[in-house]
Amino acid sequence: MSTPLEERARAAQQRAYAPYSKFKVGAAVLMKDGTIYDGVNVENASYPLSVCAERNAIAAAVNGGSLELDAVAVCTDASPPSSPCGGCRQVLRELARDPSKVTVTAVNQKGERRSWTLAELLPDSFSGTELP
Ligand code: THU
Repeated sequence: MSTPLEERARAAQQRAYAPYSKFKVGAAVLMKDGTIYDGVNVENASYPLSVCAERNAIAAAVNGGSLELDAVAVCTDASPPSSPCGGCRQVLRELARDPSKVTVTAVNQKGERRSWTLAELLPDSFSGTELP
């Protein structure tokens, strides 16, 4: 059985704009206040300007006024399901109070699933508390 968060990521994946890579990604983030936001990857003909699904989901959460991350789901067509890229792991970390309590689940439309904590995906992370 998939969770509502995974279902949001699956539904979002259909709306991904990935005409160049053909790798459609949907992401959904569950915030501490119970709200779910989603995002898709949005590519650009100038390739480096493309934005990942997870980053767009986090941008939506911030714009919605939610700043504390609880869980993440990402849907791709990869088998086994693929985990968030390194850059997105750091962006997710920004809103994770305790990365060892934030679950990241990767799914695909076939129903396969893998999951980790954010701390497992990004150990010894840079949190910003180091900054002057
Ligand atoms: N992509 C994501 O949206 N999230 C990830 O975590 C991995 C990569 C996107 C970026 C690009 O549009 C496509 O997948 C291929 O890299």
